[in-house]
Amino acid sequence: MSTITKSTSTDTREGHDTVPDDQPIIITIDGPAGTGKSTVARLLAERLGLDFLDTGAMYRAAAAIMIDRGYEEDETGELVSAVIGADLHFDWSQDPPTILAWDTPIDHRIRSNDVTDRVSFVAKISELRHHMVRKQRIIWAQHPRLVSEGRDQGSVAFPDAPVKFYLDADPMIRAQRRIDQLGIDPETMTVEEMCERIIHRDELDSTRSDGPLVCPDDAIRIDTSELEIDEVVEKLATLALERIEQIARSKP
Ligand code: DC
Repeated sequence: MSTITKSTSTDTREGHDTVPDDQPIIITIDGPAGTGKSTVARLLAERLGLDFLDTGAMYRAAAAIMIDRGYEEDETGELVSAVIGADLHFDWSQDPPTILAWDTPIDHRIRSNDVTDRVSFVAKISELRHHMVRKQRIIWAQHPRLVSEGRDQGSVAFPDAPVKFYLDADPMIRAQRRIDQLGIDPETMTVEEMCERIIHRDELDSTRSDGPLVCPDDAIRIDTSELEIDEVVEKLATLALERIEQIARSKP
């Protein structure tokens, strides 16, 4: 008997195959910036009837705390204590869920340029990463049907995840997407300049000692350079459902 169910609801899942409502599942999506990862992860979660966790928002929140509370780069201990005290959590009644620190919504703050510039520094702090990974596992315990998106979700946070994706794309295409996404005037920054920034950030993300950006051996790698977002989502949904069905069949 098939373990995949067809949704009859009126949402975007209508008529599509989905994951049965009572089946726990974690799907990880990792990869560099500009691959469409966040949008894809959110739409995939919606398509399959799962919750969506944006772990980048957690690191961005930590960077915002660092800037707004005036911590210097040599005050990482104090910063980590502040982030722990902030009790970062998401408001799951929002779509996509929004992040709060000290019970105050900070979603509007975390996408600013100064935060984006500081986040690679924050994401290198091992103690902070351990705290974030612990939090991500607690979130999964509370939301056992989850698409979790980041840099280390399949490699560190959820190494046993049954479905792992790694999205990649040509750096120039990623740069153009980022410019479009941020609405940057081409007079102020060229696509080549943005591409250099992106490559620099990839380098920082890939070479840090703790939780570096890597493609896990058992992840399915998808190049999104030539694909529209909807095509990526459909591809991932099909692959995920096949994998879930396979796992169910292999159970005695
Ligand atoms: O996906 P994003 O641009 O919102 O991520 C912001 C930063 O956080 C980026 O520099 C990589 C880092 N990050 C991380 O180190 N580990 C994660 N699981 C998610 C994001």
